[in-house]
Amino acid sequence: MSEILDGKALAKKVRKELKIEVERLKEKHIYPTLAVIMVGDDSGSQVYVRNKSRACEKAGIEFEEYLYDADITEQELLETIDVLNKDKNIHGILLQSPVPKHININKAFRRISPEKDVDGFNPINVGNLCIGEDCFISCTPYGIIKLLEEYNIETEGKEAVILGRSNIVGKPMIQCLLNKNCTVTVCHSKTKDIDKVISKADIVISAIGKPKFVKKEMVKPGATVIDVGINRLEDGTIVGDVDYEEVSKVAGYITPVPGGVGPMTIAMLLNNVVKATKDINKQ
Ligand code: GUN
Repeated sequence: MSEILDGKALAKKVRKELKIEVERLKEKHIYPTLAVIMVGDDSGSQVYVRNKSRACEKAGIEFEEYLYDADITEQELLETIDVLNKDKNIHGILLQSPVPKHININKAFRRISPEKDVDGFNPINVGNLCIGEDCFISCTPYGIIKLLEEYNIETEGKEAVILGRSNIVGKPMIQCLLNKNCTVTVCHSKTKDIDKVISKADIVISAIGKPKFVKKEMVKPGATVIDVGINRLEDGTIVGDVDYEEVSKVAGYITPVPGGVGPMTIAMLLNNVVKATKDINKQ
């Protein structure tokens, strides 16, 4: 049986440390504040934003919500970002995706000041991650790296296989694993012989949004399996991309869904807000 990578427990530990830092900043009359922009009424986004709001509240971070109808123009959205960029009381800005199709989300992400880009989606931060400079790292890959480090999982020279090439998870994950000296392969919808590629991996990271896609037969015995998937089945249950029951019989380490990667993503968002606050205030 595998050892469980307990993201919930590690996230709790990280949040406790951050809360102390937030209190220290508040003693200096600095109040870490995150602004979240949401456009439209995507039900998934509403859940994510509620979870982020609760986590901020518990950590003592101020949370400001900017909700817009789906018919806001791109120009109006960009102007909102400009106002938040200039606001000295705002330290982090997050534009929740998805946004309606008439808005170019990359243009909006690029407009967020790199110093306040706590999601790490501005190309300046993406680029700085690539060249190894100080930057904001996208929260899910960052949380996964923290989990691997917490459990002392060897990465140097290891074969890592990422399933999925999204800008939010797959692509920044490549860079994070390269920085940890892994040999990295990325699989996507056009990859041939995906089972064979996965079976070579010492570390598998799945972010493809396909329920129970990763099966026991694909996984090398002893491998570390990280599940980023959050898939809702017809009966309402939530499952990951990994067939947990089966894969946990062969993997060395595995993340559960829920309680694995999800809580770490939120913890790293809080971490990034505190970093932004400290950097902006030269603390
Ligand atoms: N939509 C799904 N995940 C994320 C995320 O991590 N950040 C933002 N901004 N939107 C998302």
